[in-house]
Amino acid sequence: YRILVLHGPNLNLLGTREPQHYGRETLAEVNARIERAAAALGVSVDCRQSNHEGQLIDWIHEARGERDGLILNPGAYTHTSYAIRDAVAAVGLPTVEVHLSNIHAREPFRHVSVIAPVALGQIAGFGPYGYVLALHALVQHLNERNG
Ligand code: DQA
Repeated sequence: YRILVLHGPNLNLLGTREPQHYGRETLAEVNARIERAAAALGVSVDCRQSNHEGQLIDWIHEARGERDGLILNPGAYTHTSYAIRDAVAAVGLPTVEVHLSNIHAREPFRHVSVIAPVALGQIAGFGPYGYVLALHALVQHLNERNG
């Protein structure tokens, strides 16, 4: 399978950004972890990050037909972006939403994800390991779907 991993705004600052919420691993280290997990599963991953809503939407559109699934940490767009939600719905790719922190245990505005209703499911609170969980969940879903 070909899987696209998208990291949204401010996730380029991982490692130094509010480590009490997001840990000390850099984005490069997180991506290396995802790549190791993908190699072990025999799937290919392409990990990208953008601070721009429109860029994330363009990448989601381009994934249509080119990828089998999407792993998405939309950052704060999780709570606000009907446009990213609509993009996910429009392309119809199986999508797993990931958050490093447990958004349900934080400020009330983080408790609502406008993305979750169009995702297969959401993984939150397990730090970078959440991406590994998401990859396993996505591959399992794709295997079941393809019989
Ligand atoms: C986040 C949670 C969001 O509420 C926040 O805006 C982020 C990161 C997470 O991975 O825990 O930027 O998506």
